[in-house]
Amino acid sequence: MYSPPFPLDKVLAYCDLRRPVLVNNLHMQPHMMDRRQIRNLLDQAGVPTPDAVFVDRDDGDVVEQRGENGDTLVVKNIKRKKEFAISKPFVEKPVNPEDHNVYIYYKGGGVRQLFRKTKNESSRLDPSEKKVRTTGSYVYEEFYQPAECADVKVYAVGDFFYAQSRKAPHIDGVVDRDPTGREVRVPVVLSGRELEICRKATTAFDQFVLGFDLLRGPGDKRFVIDVNGWSLVKNSDEYASRCGKVLAEHIVALLEKGADLPDPNIPTHNRSSRLQSAAQQPSSKQTSELFDPSQESTCVA
Ligand SMILES: Nc1ncnc2c1ncn2[C@@H]1O[C@H](COP(=O)(O)OP(=O)(O)OP(=O)(O)O)[C@@H](O)[C@H]1O
Ligand SMILES: [Mg+2]
Repeated sequence: MYSPPFPLDKVLAYCDLRRPVLVNNLHMQPHMMDRRQIRNLLDQAGVPTPDAVFVDRDDGDVVEQRGENGDTLVVKNIKRKKEFAISKPFVEKPVNPEDHNVYIYYKGGGVRQLFRKTKNESSRLDPSEKKVRTTGSYVYEEFYQPAECADVKVYAVGDFFYAQSRKAPHIDGVVDRDPTGREVRVPVVLSGRELEICRKATTAFDQFVLGFDLLRGPGDKRFVIDVNGWSLVKNSDEYASRCGKVLAEHIVALLEKGADLPDPNIPTHNRSSRLQSAAQQPSSKQTSELFDPSQESTCVA
C-alpha cells in the first residue's frame, strides 16, 4: 500500500502513458486507502467480513452509547434519517488504514488499545474505560475471539498463498520474540475454504501480490479483517523460492503478451519529444497535466 507523500497520481499518469508491466493493478490503490471502501470491496466480492457499522463524523453522524456501561453503540445518520447499532465487544478502527490505533471495547467495560509495536509492547488495557472516542471517523466491527489466540497473516503471490500465525496483539500486549529478536511466527496450512476466501480477496483488489489478515473465529467462522496491500514475507526460504518462481513466471507471461516498455537504448533526454507527443493526444489530457516527461527517470525510480 502506498502512503503519502508517495506521488500516486503522478505514478498512475506515468503508467497510463508508458504502459509498463504492472504486477498489481495500481488503479486500485486509491480504493485501498479507506477501511470502509476496503470492506465494501470485500463484501462485493463475497469475502466474509465481520458485521460492522460506520461512523462518518465528516458527514455529521451522531454517536450515542446506550445501556448499562454503554454497551450498545448507536450511530445516527442524520442525512439519511437512519440508525445503526452494534453491541460490545466491538473493534473501533480509524477509517485511515495507516492509522494503527485500533481499540477493542469489552462488554461491561474496559478498552484494549492497540498500536504500532514499540519494543515488546503491542497493546495496553484500560480496565475502566467504557466510552468510545469522540472525534474522528471509524469502522466499528464485531469482535471475535481468535482461535488459538492468533492472527493469521496471509501473503498472496498469484495463486500461491503463504500464511503465518502470530499471537494476536490484544491477548496480553506482549510481543513474543525468538532468540534473534524477531516476532515469533508459525507457518499455517490453509484449508480449502480458506484458500477460496483468499482467492476472492486478491480478485477483489486485482492484486497479484497482496497481504491481508484472516481471522479464524469460533467454529467455522472465517473473516478477512485487514488488507495491507503489497507485502512480502521475510525470513522464509520456502516462501522466497516459491514467490520468486511464481512472480518470475507471471512477469514473463505478461511480457510475452506484449508490454509497451520504455526502450532502454534511448536515453531519457531523447525520449522526451516522443513522450510529449504522446502526452498531447486527447486521451492523455489528464496525463499530460500530471506527468512531466523531464522527470521520467524520477518516476521510474
Ligand atoms: N473483528 C475483529 N475481531 C477480533 N480481532 C480483531 C478484529 N479486527 C481486528 N482484530 C485484531 O486487531 C488487530 C489489528 O486490527 P487490523 O489488522 O484491522 O489493524 P491494523 O492496525 O491495520 O493492522 P496491521 O498492523 O496489520 O496493518 C488484528 O491483528 C487482530 O488481532
Ligand atoms: Mg492487520
